[in-house]
Amino acid sequence: MEDWRHGGFGLYIHWPFCQSKCPYCDFNSHVASSVDQDKWLTAYLREIDRLAAETKGRVLSSVFFGGGTPSLMNPEVVSGVIDHVRRSWPMTNSAEITLEANPGSVEAGRFSAYRQAGVNRISMGIQALNDEALRKLGRLHTAPEALKAFGIARDLFDRVSFDLIYARQEQTVQDWRAELRLALSYAIDHLSLYQLTIEEGTPFAARLLKGGLTGLPDEDRAVALFEATQEICDAAGLPSYEVSNHARPGAESQHNLIYWRGGDYVGIGPGAHGRLTLDGVRVATECPRAPDTWLNSRTPELPRMTLSALEHAEEYVLMSLRLSEGLEMDRLINIRGKAPNYSVLNELKDQGLLLIENGRLTATPRGRMLLNAVIEKVAVSLA
Ligand SMILES: C[S@@+](CC[C@H](N)C(=O)[O-])C[C@H]1O[C@@H](n2cnc3c(N)ncnc32)[C@H](O)[C@@H]1O
Ligand code: SF4
Repeated sequence: MEDWRHGGFGLYIHWPFCQSKCPYCDFNSHVASSVDQDKWLTAYLREIDRLAAETKGRVLSSVFFGGGTPSLMNPEVVSGVIDHVRRSWPMTNSAEITLEANPGSVEAGRFSAYRQAGVNRISMGIQALNDEALRKLGRLHTAPEALKAFGIARDLFDRVSFDLIYARQEQTVQDWRAELRLALSYAIDHLSLYQLTIEEGTPFAARLLKGGLTGLPDEDRAVALFEATQEICDAAGLPSYEVSNHARPGAESQHNLIYWRGGDYVGIGPGAHGRLTLDGVRVATECPRAPDTWLNSRTPELPRMTLSALEHAEEYVLMSLRLSEGLEMDRLINIRGKAPNYSVLNELKDQGLLLIENGRLTATPRGRMLLNAVIEKVAVSLA
């Protein structure tokens, strides 16, 4: 059996436009004065045809509209894409079709049409339940508006997740505990909780360099915030199944699990990445980032990279150690073509950072806090 089958098969569609650019965000998102949505639909359909021909007969278990702000897409574009996807690949009965939404009122007005189009899960970027914090994050909505939009989504969809950003300026552990408890009182069964990261090239990074953006947490407070997050979500029955993602058991995002479990996925849209195993070889696909370049190109894909056995194994480690379930040793050995250096792994085990049990490798809670260092070390064991 080809390894990707353990993780499944999904489709990612990137919509690269937003109403305004948030100062912390380095995603491939742009503000455009006008967007010819029909032209975008035509381009998505053409790409679906091209990539479906390469992956004929594979069973799709997830479609994810990400961005950018996909809730700015006309519902006709979303339904056009979903209808064409259904004609192009067989889909599982319980296929997850997620759309990322911003909680503006205009967007909320489209939720019903998205449902009609076949979307069955919404992931909403609420980010904070505090108006002052939202303003500082450069968001256009207020907390009451976000909760109203969330309520509309909740009435229409069985599955609605939302994102919050914590470790913000001046945020104390006590403030975050209260905000998270409030968030959990609204949550259905899934939450994404991201620590604010200052990404190079963003306005936040420039402000930090100039001595602005004061009150960001030092390492001790960041650890305390992370620990409080785990404790409160565990107690509420939404433990983390991935470093930043929490769900009731069974309500995990099927789409993201495909990435973290090393499945194959098609990536369509500006800057979208994909991983495909074709004729037994795993390739990385990537699209040009600039929306116009992508839109106006006949085959909007950069040259493909073939992953070596080592690169594939490193990627499996990088993705799967983010999961509480960790990775399967048999798969790792199969992908790499040889066993890892166990003395390196045992060292991490002795330091209380890794568990090697029942044929699985998992990061301990302490290991998860030092995950980048742990992953780097595990990668050394593969050489
Ligand atoms: C790229 S956005 C797309 C969805 C939608 N546009 C939104 O903003 O909610 C996906 C998520 O990434 C997170 N995010 C983006 N930049 C971040 C950063 N610098 N630090 C932490 N989280 C970030 C936000 O929580 C956001 O909801
Ligand atoms: S965080 Fe979301 S809304 Fe803000 S710029 Fe990034 S993609 Fe757009």
